[in-house]
Amino acid sequence: MSYISVAIDGPAAAGKSTVAKKVAEILGYTYIDTGAMYRAYTLYTILKGIDPKDEEKSISLIPEVHITLTPDNKVFLNDEDVTFRIRQPDINANVSYIASYKDIRLALVEQQRALAKTSNVVMDGRDIGTYVLPDAKVKIFQIASVETRAIRRYEENMQKGIPCTLEDIEQDVRKRDYIDSHREFAPLKAASDSVLIDTSFMSVDEVVNEVLKIIKMKTGEQNG
Ligand code: DC
Repeated sequence: MSYISVAIDGPAAAGKSTVAKKVAEILGYTYIDTGAMYRAYTLYTILKGIDPKDEEKSISLIPEVHITLTPDNKVFLNDEDVTFRIRQPDINANVSYIASYKDIRLALVEQQRALAKTSNVVMDGRDIGTYVLPDAKVKIFQIASVETRAIRRYEENMQKGIPCTLEDIEQDVRKRDYIDSHREFAPLKAASDSVLIDTSFMSVDEVVNEVLKIIKMKTGEQNG
């Protein structure tokens, strides 16, 4: 039996995970946050006292890193719940380095592809439509202006009690956009067959409804 995959890609803090989670819940699909996997790997590198800018040492940890995403959207790193920890500023500042290493990407992509073979999924990331699931039935590329994304992430952090300033967030978003879209292997890029949604002036519900409409159009999924 083949399952339906919905790929949602786009730059940092474009609201992909909020939308992907809601869409998955409405349709009864599994939500897979691939960014959380790169974040958990980054945390492990830091815990081991390794500089994430050191490719060789970071790659050497591959056999030790076991990441699990639970159905209630928790992230476990070697059996420890790191759901909250991986959203902290030190992870934001370093995750793009870890995500630029081909060997680490290949290891995590293998896990992502295996997950898409076991259920209908909504998978969000940077390279889902272009590299991880090139045959996905539905591909969305979600964007918003840098300013909008920074404000959204700032407000989210305030709600979660994560200390930050708007200036730092905007700088971090710009830096990650640059590294994510300029890396050699599987960079952030819209798939040629993706549907672009600019969410700068849209509410979450408006984006969710738009995505459901696209899914319905492409798959005939009745709930959409
Ligand atoms: O979506 P996010 O902000 O949690 O992603 C964290 C980082 O991981 C992001 O800067 C780029 C990287 N990433 C990636 O390279 N490929 C993915 N499929 C998902 C995330």
